[in-house]
Amino acid sequence: MAKILKQRNYHEDVRMGSFKGKDLISIKDLSKEELLHILDATSKIKGKELLKGKVLATLFFEPSTRTRLSFESAMSKLGGAVIGFGSPNITSISKGESLHDTLKMVESYANIIVMRHPVDGSVRYAAESVSVPVINAGDGVNQHPTQTLVDLYTIKETFGKLDGLTIGFLGDMKYGRTVHSLAYALSHFKVKLVFISPEELRMPEHYLEELRERKVSFTEIEDLEEVSQQLDLLYVTRIQKERFPDPVEYERFKGSYRIDKSVLLQSKQGMKIMHPLPRVDEISMELDATKNALYFEQAKNGVIIRQTLLALLLGTIR
Ligand code: CP
Repeated sequence: MAKILKQRNYHEDVRMGSFKGKDLISIKDLSKEELLHILDATSKIKGKELLKGKVLATLFFEPSTRTRLSFESAMSKLGGAVIGFGSPNITSISKGESLHDTLKMVESYANIIVMRHPVDGSVRYAAESVSVPVINAGDGVNQHPTQTLVDLYTIKETFGKLDGLTIGFLGDMKYGRTVHSLAYALSHFKVKLVFISPEELRMPEHYLEELRERKVSFTEIEDLEEVSQQLDLLYVTRIQKERFPDPVEYERFKGSYRIDKSVLLQSKQGMKIMHPLPRVDEISMELDATKNALYFEQAKNGVIIRQTLLALLLGTIR
């Protein structure tokens, strides 16, 4: 059943009122209406055992704290069960089993799969290999669509809107998949984006080209001070150590930016700070208790968004 639905046009099915049986591989799979529908559907979740008898498989080929555990928490809260792994080292992949064969096994054990993998495009390959819905929990430097839904939800809850905001992205624009996904999602709304990074860690050109095509107002700079008086929101990211081909290069850029109370004093009053986490040292802990800091609230929102997504894709809400 899921296989047949997966072959149909995504937007057409959703217009018909159903996310049932769909994959979520890229944020580009979703129209503006579909994004907003998911955010609004969070209201259908609270206190309901919507997924009793269903099984979620979490296949994590890369480390994770928030994404894996919030998916597991989400499934448990909805009355479902969870199987899976947080590292391929404890699976038969370490004995030489292929990704394809692993997926074929899991398909018969679970109703839905969440997968993270270091190779760009690998989760789309997974979705094409199995009949159950597959959710991308991060593929290489490519996409992290569920983080983007969490981010949009957090912005909307905080500001009461997604239009009319000036948003700065700070840190690693080159390897940060959360930035790649979120910048595209924000292109549906009337926003101004500022990408703040060292020259060598700028947004890859193909993402910028997409934003130009979509008529998004954006600038690229190196120094936060140039714009901090204009920003409603600063989305900070870690320099992605694990993505650098050469560790010496990482050493050059680590610690490029550090946000502390002195930065807040120079910024627009009330500027909010988000971060997909984990952080290393780019946000001082002295900001954690301020009204500016949204990052722990953002991580908490991961559960309700992932509950909603699981219930939508498994068809127990619409
Ligand atoms: N934000 C995020 O993806 O965190 P984890 O790597 O801990 O899942």
